[in-house]
Amino acid sequence: MAEVIDSYGRHLNYVRISVTDRCNFRCSYCMPPEGVQEIDHAEIMRYEEILRLCVVFRELGVRKFRFTGGEPLVRKDIVSFLAELRFQLPDVKIAMTTNGFLLKKYAQQLADVGIDSLNISLDTLDCDKFSSITRVDGLEKVFSGIKASVKSGIKNIKINTVLIKGFNDTEIPELLKFSKKAGVLLRLIEFMPLQDSIWNEKHFISSNEMLRILQGMGEWKLEDSFAFEDGPAKYYCNAKNGDRIGIIAAVSHHFCDSCNRLRVSASGNLRTCLFSPQEFPLRALIRNPDTAKLKNAIFEQIKSKPKCWRDIRTGKSHMSSIGG
Ligand code: GTP
Ligand code: 5AD
Ligand code: SF4
Repeated sequence: MAEVIDSYGRHLNYVRISVTDRCNFRCSYCMPPEGVQEIDHAEIMRYEEILRLCVVFRELGVRKFRFTGGEPLVRKDIVSFLAELRFQLPDVKIAMTTNGFLLKKYAQQLADVGIDSLNISLDTLDCDKFSSITRVDGLEKVFSGIKASVKSGIKNIKINTVLIKGFNDTEIPELLKFSKKAGVLLRLIEFMPLQDSIWNEKHFISSNEMLRILQGMGEWKLEDSFAFEDGPAKYYCNAKNGDRIGIIAAVSHHFCDSCNRLRVSASGNLRTCLFSPQEFPLRALIRNPDTAKLKNAIFEQIKSKPKCWRDIRTGKSHMSSIGG
C-alpha cells in the first residue's frame, strides 16, 4: 500500500476537504464583518471530483476525511455525497466540522450515512455574546442541532470552543457542564493568528492558562492513548469525577512534528499546511483519467510541507476560506 510521507518523515493520512467557501455565520475571529469574496460557483469542485480525489487519496493510504467549509451543511446535497463516499470507500473515517446552525435538519441523515465524527463550534452559552461573535442570532438553533446529533446516535461528537480573553474565558465551567449534560466532549482551542488584522495577543489564552483555570475544578490527568486518526487535541481526564476535556494548543505547544494532514480547498487546491500561503491547483488533474499524474503532483507538493507553521506564517489568511 502506498503512503504519503513528507520530507520530515510525517505520514499524511488525514485530509481535510472544504466543500464550500460559503458560510451562514460571520465569526469575528474567522472573517471580516463584510465577509470575504466568494468563489465563483463554477470554480467549486463538483461532488464527483471530490469523490475521485478521495478515492485517489485512499489509494495513497489516507484513512480519514474531514469535511469543512465555510460551513459544509450549506452545500446542497452534501448528505447524498457523503452516502456515495461511504459506499465507495467503506473503510475510511468520515468526519465533519460544522457551526451547528443547520444540524437539527441534518443530524439524523448524517447518522444514517454512517458519519464517524462531528465537531461542532460553540464559543459561548450566552445569546447576546453568541450573536456578537457569529454576527447571527442562532444560539438556540445550535443547541437544538447538538441535541439532535446526540439523539441521532452519532458516536464521536465534540464541541469546539475558541477561547478569547475577555470574551468567553470565564465560561469554561459552564461550557464543561453543558457538554457533559449534552453527552458531548468539550475542546478548548487556542486562538490562532491567521489574519493579523483579527488576531491580537491581548485576547490570546494559552493552553497553560486553560489548564490553570481547569485546576479549580479538580486534578486533570493527560490521557496517553492516541489513535492514528487523531487530530491535534490533547485529552485530559478529571481524576475526581471522570470528566474529559480536549485542549488544542496550536500556538503555544504547536504539534507540527506530529502533523498527519493535508488540506484541499473548495476549488480543489492542495494546501500542505493550515498557515501556508501557497496552494497547488489539483482540479485539472482530478478530471484527468490518468490518476498517476494526480498522484505524482501530490507527492511533489508534499515536499514543500513546512516543518512548522511558524516558518511560513504571513498573517494574511482567513480561516473561513481554509476550513480550519
Ligand atoms: P479531530 O481531532 O479529527 O476530531 O479533528 P480536528 O480537531 O483536527 O478538527 P476541527 O475541524 O474540529 O478543528 C479544531 C481546531 O483545530 C480548529 O481550530 C482547527 O483550525 C485546528 N486544526 C485542525 N487541524 C490543524 C492543523 O493541522 N494545524 C493547526 N495549527 N490547527 C489545526
Ligand atoms: N483560531 C483557532 N480556531 C479557529 N477556528 C476558526 N478560526 C480560528 C482561529 N483563528 C475554528 C472554528 C471551528 C474550526 C473549524 O476552526 O471555531 O471550530
Ligand atoms: Fe465561523 Fe466556521 Fe463560519 Fe468561520 S467558517 S465564520 S469559524 S462558522
